[in-house]
Amino acid sequence: MLDDDKSRLPTHHASSTHLQRRRPRPLISFLILATILYLSVFLWQSRTQYIRVPRNAHNIAEKCSRLRLLPSPPPDFYNRKESDRFDASLAPTKPIVVRNATIWTGEVAEGLEVVFGDVLLDKGIIGGVGNVDSIEGEVEEINVDGAWVTSGIVDLHSHLGDFSSPSLSGSSDTNSRKGLAQPWLRSVDALNTHDEAYRLALAGGVTSAVVLPGSAGAIGGQAFPIKLRPTSEKSTSSMLLESPFDSPSHWRHLKQACGENPSRVYSGTRMDTIWSFRAAYEEARKLKEKQDAFCEKVEVGRWDLLQNKSFPEDLQWEALVDVLRGKVKIQNHCYEEVDLDGIVRLSNEFNFSIAGFHHAHEAYLVPELLKKAYGHTPVVAMFATNGRYKRESYRGSEYAPKVLSDNGIEVVMKSDHPVLNSRYLLHEAQQAHYYGLSASLALASITTTPARAAGLDHRIGKVKRGYDADLVIWDSHPLALGATPIQVYVDGIPQLPHTPTAVHPNSQKGQTAPQTPQFEEEAREAVKADGLPSLDAKEVTGTVVFYRVKSLYLRIHGRIFDIFQHPEAEKVNNEGKVLVRNGEVICVAGVDLISTTGVKTCDSSDLDHVAVDAGIDLEGGSVAPGLSSYGVPLGLQHIAGEISTGDGRVDSKIAGQDIVRAVDGLQFRTRDALLAYRSGVTVGITPPSLGLATAFSTGAKHKLQSGAIVKEETALHVIVTLNAQEESVSTQIRNLRKALVDAVNGGGEGGLGEAFKRVIEGKIPLVVAAQSADVMATLISLKKEVEDLLASKNEKGEKQIRMTFVGAAEAHLVAPEIADAGIGVVVTPTRPFPSTWESLRILPGPPLSEKTAVSTLLEHGVTVGIGVFTGSGAWVARNVRWDAAWIALDSNGAISHAEALELASTKLEGLLGVDVEESDRFGEMVATRGGELLEFEGKVVAVFSRRRGVVDVF
Ligand SMILES: *[C@@H]1O[C@H](CO)[C@@H](O)[C@H](O)[C@H]1NC(C)=O
Ligand SMILES: *[C@@H]1O[C@H](CO)[C@@H](O)[C@H](O)[C@H]1NC(C)=O
Ligand SMILES: *[C@@H]1O[C@H](CO)[C@@H](O)[C@H](O)[C@H]1NC(C)=O
Repeated sequence: MLDDDKSRLPTHHASSTHLQRRRPRPLISFLILATILYLSVFLWQSRTQYIRVPRNAHNIAEKCSRLRLLPSPPPDFYNRKESDRFDASLAPTKPIVVRNATIWTGEVAEGLEVVFGDVLLDKGIIGGVGNVDSIEGEVEEINVDGAWVTSGIVDLHSHLGDFSSPSLSGSSDTNSRKGLAQPWLRSVDALNTHDEAYRLALAGGVTSAVVLPGSAGAIGGQAFPIKLRPTSEKSTSSMLLESPFDSPSHWRHLKQACGENPSRVYSGTRMDTIWSFRAAYEEARKLKEKQDAFCEKVEVGRWDLLQNKSFPEDLQWEALVDVLRGKVKIQNHCYEEVDLDGIVRLSNEFNFSIAGFHHAHEAYLVPELLKKAYGHTPVVAMFATNGRYKRESYRGSEYAPKVLSDNGIEVVMKSDHPVLNSRYLLHEAQQAHYYGLSASLALASITTTPARAAGLDHRIGKVKRGYDADLVIWDSHPLALGATPIQVYVDGIPQLPHTPTAVHPNSQKGQTAPQTPQFEEEAREAVKADGLPSLDAKEVTGTVVFYRVKSLYLRIHGRIFDIFQHPEAEKVNNEGKVLVRNGEVICVAGVDLISTTGVKTCDSSDLDHVAVDAGIDLEGGSVAPGLSSYGVPLGLQHIAGEISTGDGRVDSKIAGQDIVRAVDGLQFRTRDALLAYRSGVTVGITPPSLGLATAFSTGAKHKLQSGAIVKEETALHVIVTLNAQEESVSTQIRNLRKALVDAVNGGGEGGLGEAFKRVIEGKIPLVVAAQSADVMATLISLKKEVEDLLASKNEKGEKQIRMTFVGAAEAHLVAPEIADAGIGVVVTPTRPFPSTWESLRILPGPPLSEKTAVSTLLEHGVTVGIGVFTGSGAWVARNVRWDAAWIALDSNGAISHAEALELASTKLEGLLGVDVEESDRFGEMVATRGGELLEFEGKVVAVFSRRRGVVDVF
């Protein structure tokens, strides 16, 4: 801004000399001469103005020259000996050398480089990689015994700290909702330092995150990259990584969104949203033009034309002006082709580039469109399997990361925390790898690629000399299922409680990247069908032989046995054969099983002389019981966000006397159910929020098809929660007590009364969704109270009611009491997160605690089943196989694959009142090729059951 009090400099040119008044000499002639001279100078001078040049002209000139400066690290950045984030009061006193590491450095095209050697961490930076020989002074050496080491994980899309956990009414700071385009807002202003999730995400190896404002607005505000570790200053600002407040050479960040969210929040349409962008960028363009015009004059010294004018500024639009100047990384939430197209057009109208398209569920269908974006092709930041929760994500595909990278587009996996718990961002990369993304690109998708998309690739995302000392030592190959950090360093500071002096990688988990299945054909089909490939199976009736079966798991009396490992079974090599006729296992070749299992051993007539309708080579895979899914409204909706595509809302209070039955609202052939089916989840157990749950076959075509309904009414489901808006916990308990006592006393009217009577008679379980240990304790007392009453009334009959807790985040705190009360627990989700106050006291599991809720409950003798996160959409049902496998991996050998399968099938079904009928015998069976159902090597190729009488081949 020009100062009012100005120094006087008479000049057009900075080089002009000062004017001096000349004193006339006594000599007349000289006086005349001087006068003439004076007058001529005066006349010349009068043509020139005395103009005001601001005292801070230098600052203004500098400000103008800075406009053209593009963000970049200082030239001597890699000579730094100490990080600007070095925190002496938290850092270890000695430098650390991690020895004998298998280092995925992130270097070389596609991050192919793997170095075996050492990493030196000193003063917050990586001092050396490879052979770190001798170091002056004392160091701490850690021998990691060949363990995998990567850079810390970078989450390009997080609301960590802005949408705080636990979620409280005072903590929803992600969206402003006061306007469509608000580039002046800053996520840093809402960043809560006390969020529970920092510690948890660090335990998953996440060291940095870009905290974005939400997607309610088209321009939601400025984003800020942070590191997740606690700082000695404990302030929000000290968490920032390369804050733009500190230096104009640091990148700025902006969140944009298009499509449904801005439309919904502002009751507008896509047209309104795109106009709001154009109107905002037009403001910015005009302001930029004014600034440029101003600075052009400054640069040629034309202060005369700038009299009383100040540098054109506007706090509301300056961030967008910086976008137009190429100083801002834009992360753009944008799903559908129509929206991507709108933003690509916008970027070319106003000439700015997009760093990344986020969510972008249709990006893989239009790779050439993305390449038309201004400047450079954006990265695409995705979920692995989270989809179909609204129209925008309905055509999403698990093959999208592969398809995009095959088309030369860079892929990022992101959490959108707390949409997905960022602690498990690595699992997103693992799933992308499972569905076809190369191992190196999968690792890059959570390290080097997001670092580059955030303009931070000069210091994070690689294990490289001069980079920030953000490092994760893994207990297995990071793409192996269940990979868990042994130690995490941020700025050279260890973040896990115990610094290992020697590390022993978990031998249970893979130490190499899993050999994932081929999905080329499926990926091609997905693109060809515009995201909606047929999910129908080929139905084979008659005789099917599965060859090269390495393991066979069978359900026998509520348990699951690995038959080929059975003590009475002869050792089977990879040549096991299973013969199936009309969906039923007829015999098994190579092992005598009759005595233990009732399964006949095939003789040569079975195998050699029958007409085989299909032979399926499992290549060392397995045949195992199908899993069940509980926790999400599988079968009740096609698209969660679209009420017209599903069952709709259910009266959630104990009110009136009628009972809702989930079976009456079932929708078959939802894509989520069919995808679950193809992932080995053959039964969906779905409750209404209050009423009678049902169990159905995820692969059935409609309700009336034979075998479609596994059990019509399974259990009575109720909820007791601190989160009920209108009813206190004590009111909810009163209602429940009244219903139970009425039932004992023979009262209770209508369908609901009937249902409670069946509970009292022990015919169906009472399933209570509860998270809080205190609520569970109250329910344990209530159960006893009702049972005492029952005993006093009912000398001969049932004295116990079957009760199951679901959710049960804090169940481990009352595990012995739950066991004593004979209550079963369905843990949902298996990897807990403190999203609400009533689920705050989670047992986080390795590496933060040795035990998990599941292992603790099992140790106390509680019957345990596992379900999926009730806060997710139905998409999550397909991932039960990984959840079950993870539990086995976390147990250090205590839980076998067979037992892990039970948790998600026989145990779960028993707890929820689903009794697989006798006639079914083995229930539904799933055949996987290349590996087991619970392994990243296995691909589901067929599902069969006697109930349905066919083999469904995929
Ligand atoms: C690295 O491992 C080798 C063999 O496993 C061992 O002999 C050596 O001592 C280790 N190095 C350090 C520094 O611990
Ligand atoms: C600049 O402002 C001063 C003081 O307000 C005023 O006297 C002068 O005329 C202005 N000059 C121009 C060129 O507007
Ligand atoms: C974008 O760049 C093109 C080509 O240089 C130019 O014609 C156009 O005016 C620019 N648009 C804006 C809004 O500056």
